[in-house]
Amino acid sequence: MEMESPSPFPSPFKGDILKGKVALLTGGGSGIGYEISAQFGKHGASIAIMGRRKNVLDDAVSALRSLGIPAVGFEGDVRKQEDAKSVVEATVKHFGKLDILVNAAAGNFLVAAEDLSPNGFKTVIDIDTVGTFTMCHEAFKYLKKGGLGRSSSSGGGFILNISATLHVTASWYLIHASAAKAAIDSLTRNLALEWGTDYDMRVNGVAPGATGDTAGLSKLMPQEIMNKTVEKLPLDKVGEKWDIAMAALYLASDAGR
Ligand code: HXC
Repeated sequence: MEMESPSPFPSPFKGDILKGKVALLTGGGSGIGYEISAQFGKHGASIAIMGRRKNVLDDAVSALRSLGIPAVGFEGDVRKQEDAKSVVEATVKHFGKLDILVNAAAGNFLVAAEDLSPNGFKTVIDIDTVGTFTMCHEAFKYLKKGGLGRSSSSGGGFILNISATLHVTASWYLIHASAAKAAIDSLTRNLALEWGTDYDMRVNGVAPGATGDTAGLSKLMPQEIMNKTVEKLPLDKVGEKWDIAMAALYLASDAGR
């Protein structure tokens, strides 16, 4: 596996803002998901990561542990409800509880709408949207106020869904991912309303634009397109994974309440 680049900047947050928290991250072994895992861990959380590729998970867990972070990896595909259930259960068994779920797993490829089969469309919806809902569904009984493993004083847990900005207007050759991410934003709002009101949980989304050093960028924005596109970005540059992780950290901390 390609080694993840070190974070470019020091954290502006205190090192203990997630002390004692247990976080499970889908897609936590690479890209934005890994950066959030590392930053949550550096700020006191214990980290479980879920992904389909064992070698990616193993490398990420080793890298996290080398930073002194309690970390464990569980193989699983968010498209399979039994995997979602068993990974959530394994996390709680390993660390005793669950406080934070981050849905960062995604699938994507560039394709013109006319060349996309209904099954190709469904595949991305299944990973991104249905996968996010399934993870929320399986984690709910541990994250809700008074849920399994939660102390009576700790209130409800936190869910962060990673979306995108593709669907804010329209994006070439990403009809599947645009629809999937729009649906994720919608389910984030609905869960924030229902579970925030009834179960003292917080459900937030972060919607990154083009982010450097990720599969999304290398897969979806080949260098020649990138060279043309960067000039059109308001700041003449793509974002960094660190930027996204800092937003995630703020939201996951007590400051994000
Ligand atoms: C057209 C394609 C295709 C392609 C797959 N399909 N790749 N169609 N062009 N390049 C179609 C297949 O033909 C098939 O439909 C259906 O999709 C399922 O394909 P499989 O290969 O069986 O799927 P699977 O092995 O499960 O792989 C899922 C995947 C793959 C999404 C296709 O790319 C993947 O696993 N990716 C995970 C990692 C990833 O993509 N990360 C990047 C996330 S970036 P038929 O009809 O033939 O059966 C991101 C950023 C968003 O999310 C924001 C960007 C700015």
